[in-house]
Amino acid sequence: MVAAFAAPALAADSVQVPPRERLLMDTGWRFAFGHPSDKARDFFYATGYFSCFAKAGYADGPAAAAFEDRGWRQLGLPHDWAVEAPFDANASPSHGYKASGRGFPERSIGWYRKTFAIPASDLGRRISVEFDGVFRDSVVWINGFYLGRHTCGYTGFRYDLTDYLNYGGDNVIAVRVDASMEEGWFYEGAGIYRHVWLVKTAPLHVTQWGTYVTTEVDGDGAAVAARTSVANEGVEPAPFEVEQTVVDPDGRIVATGSLRSLSLAAGDTGEFSCGLNVPHPKLWSIESPALHRLVTTIRVAGAEVDRYETTFGIRTIRFDPDRGFFLNGRHVEIHGTNNHQDHAGVGVALPDALQDFRVARLKEIGVNAYRSSHNPPTPEFLDACDRLGLLVLDENRLMGVSPEQLGQLESMIRRDRNHPCVILWSLGNEEWSLEANAKGARVAASMQAFAHRLDPTRRTTYANSGGWGGISTVIDLVGYNYINQSNPDEQHARFPNQPGVGTEETTTQCTRGIYFDDPSRALLSPQFRGDTGGNSEKGWNYYAARPFLAGLFFWTGFDLRGEAWPSGWPGVVSHFGFLDACGFPKDTAYYIKSWWTDEPVLHLYPHWNWPGREGQEITVGCFSNHEEIELFLNGVALGRKAMPRNGHLEWKVAYAPGALEARGYRGGRMVATTRVETTGAPTQLVLTPNLTAINADGADVAVFTVSARDAHGRTVPTAANLVNLEITNGRIIGVGNGNPGCHEPDKFIESIALFTLEDWRGRIAPVGTTAPLALESQVPLPKLGYYQAPLPKPGEVYDLSGAFNLPAVPDGALELFLPTFGAKTSLWLNGRELARDIDTSKVGPALRLDPAQLVAGVNRVQLIVTPFADRLNHIPELTRLGSLRALTSAPPARRSLFNGLAQVIVQSTREAGVIDLKAESDGLVSAEGTVSARLAALRAAVP
Ligand code: GAL
Repeated sequence: MVAAFAAPALAADSVQVPPRERLLMDTGWRFAFGHPSDKARDFFYATGYFSCFAKAGYADGPAAAAFEDRGWRQLGLPHDWAVEAPFDANASPSHGYKASGRGFPERSIGWYRKTFAIPASDLGRRISVEFDGVFRDSVVWINGFYLGRHTCGYTGFRYDLTDYLNYGGDNVIAVRVDASMEEGWFYEGAGIYRHVWLVKTAPLHVTQWGTYVTTEVDGDGAAVAARTSVANEGVEPAPFEVEQTVVDPDGRIVATGSLRSLSLAAGDTGEFSCGLNVPHPKLWSIESPALHRLVTTIRVAGAEVDRYETTFGIRTIRFDPDRGFFLNGRHVEIHGTNNHQDHAGVGVALPDALQDFRVARLKEIGVNAYRSSHNPPTPEFLDACDRLGLLVLDENRLMGVSPEQLGQLESMIRRDRNHPCVILWSLGNEEWSLEANAKGARVAASMQAFAHRLDPTRRTTYANSGGWGGISTVIDLVGYNYINQSNPDEQHARFPNQPGVGTEETTTQCTRGIYFDDPSRALLSPQFRGDTGGNSEKGWNYYAARPFLAGLFFWTGFDLRGEAWPSGWPGVVSHFGFLDACGFPKDTAYYIKSWWTDEPVLHLYPHWNWPGREGQEITVGCFSNHEEIELFLNGVALGRKAMPRNGHLEWKVAYAPGALEARGYRGGRMVATTRVETTGAPTQLVLTPNLTAINADGADVAVFTVSARDAHGRTVPTAANLVNLEITNGRIIGVGNGNPGCHEPDKFIESIALFTLEDWRGRIAPVGTTAPLALESQVPLPKLGYYQAPLPKPGEVYDLSGAFNLPAVPDGALELFLPTFGAKTSLWLNGRELARDIDTSKVGPALRLDPAQLVAGVNRVQLIVTPFADRLNHIPELTRLGSLRALTSAPPARRSLFNGLAQVIVQSTREAGVIDLKAESDGLVSAEGTVSARLAALRAAVP
């Protein structure tokens, strides 16, 4: 029995494989667009006589293992095909007018395929695939076997592959993603936009998200409860032991515990709890995010069969109805922002390093909390918040109590409940059909009770949009979306034991560097916008004055794609952020930085380049936390004013070019100065990376800022030059500039036109046939998956043909990919011989073509195939189509500056050395920026 659960036997020459492997499965995918209704454009998927729902393993089209996919685009994950699309005025405003989704059937279905090897030595292990997030409605097959369907674009899911795999051979996973429907009213991307993992374990193992660690700080120590869910997927009962080890932030083992004489019957899962004590723990906090690790080891008769690691933090959280939020017993005012998950250039497909970048940008301006509106975030985002110290309000996507909806809530809580950064669960946002009524109260109460069972350590909230008397009567903690539609004072008076937090509040909606509205270009100046938009100051003063409220989350930290109000098209990105979509701060970022940090802040606006406005009055503003501010224009004092707490200052100044200067005073003493100067025209570009070195692992990123400077090195705040980019030893994976009305491409990718071979015909030809016969002597090949091809007699060959139809001879590099039907193949295109007797025993022919070999209209390919000696069924079904590919390489990367700035996101390759980015623009001195790519351990991955 022991052998059944021991680590799998290894071949003598193989390296020692740990009992659990979690392999990143991000590279080596093939991708092509399918189609919701045109079966030819969907590669004849689901057209066979039997479908994958009729007969196990009968998936057809690209879902079948044998499908010929070499013509498809090669890409790595994460991938978002919506961000690659052009902008279109007819596309969905909420999705940022990207030509993708329901209105664009040719870009609404995406097929992904990956071929990967499983060694023979894996036989006996449990092997599963885990998807962190696919937008949306995905169906997955392994080797033609249907695994399941997952509709939510924000929750992770897994399938067990064990029984379907080819051990010691190749395996094909196929995913059909249907992103026609939206879940949100904001940009959501399309495709496999989060990581995929292949997980290998022994039959006895910790389940997915199978640990739950809770801590209680007690005097000088912490009591840690480690619950572990273990599954026995073997065929025998399993006796085992669980050992728990706590490792502190310095890598020292600080507590151990074990559970002995456990057992699970075959097929059973059980939860096993172990108490541990950590003396003098370093507590997790925003300023000092100390992380502990729980190492769970499962042993059978002394042999380790699983080792599972859980990162957690030791900290206490408490919401008080009168005094707000407490972390480790200390009052912390929630200085939060809401954010969606998209970023400039890359849409929702963020490399992990960009999560850190975004967290750092928010922390820099004093943000200490993040509401992941309106869905659970990517796991790596929460890892970044754990590591960097940012509190998270983790939000469920859709309210409801059906198994699917409770399943979404459960999946979020099980996945995320060990993260110390998560302080609160949100059941939902602005559910207008539930918010103010008895149904809402019942649904919220059921969901809340369910959440408490999964995690009794955190409260739940709901973001309320002004409907009272329903959800607000039962929820643990009220979330107020906008004080212009809520009365927290009244709610607090009626429900004195119910804490509250501002889940949304308007910022001063505006565009970075814009001071006069220009609706034709979707540019907004920072103004009070009446009821639909307040301003940051109004919201913060309201919350700052009410200690019973825990603080607030502004809408939003970063600008998000979609919701480009009030302009709509040509606006494609919102104006809500303190930071633009690249993370460049708007002036208002310095408002919150002034009052949310202890750092001295002195920020003057606007810029001082106003040719043609000489003598006109311009409002000059200052965000600062100094006590008094004095303003000068060209050395002339314009007045010294006291800075109101949580406020800002303004002066009306007649414009004259030159220099504005602000001096900040504390205790009557000047402690800081800042200047805004009229610049000259741009003369040079400058490239500034956010880091000096990144990992040469093909995944890490550096974020470059491109700026235009004048002859004195000053950033020109109005520069809009078009910048051409070139890179060596790296990849440009996206560009942006923070302009919400910019329709320039975000990404620069190769384009592929695929022409599928159809109208397959054939026959068995007599011994000695060396050239194709007339088409009329061939019969159409059956399109049925179960078709048994007639068996050729010795010496007989297949005489086959297929055709593709070209509206015109396409541009680009042309290549013909054909399936293999036999050991040797000779080939003719439009009657001309292309190849004779090539070896196709492993893969079918792949031939480069010259445009002169093609014609507009029908092009016929003819094959004479020597059958395999030892295999049947070689005649193609619809799973083996073949295609002509016309590939146009990626256009050069470029981007216009917006108000002086642009952003270039650069990813390393696996080559160590120097990543060298060059930026050039007509009439300006070019710039070069470098980042070193250092050798780094690669993450364990499926090749
Ligand atoms: C809120 C909503 C947010 C966003 C915002 C725009 O009502 O919860 O998702 O749409 O309005 O102002």
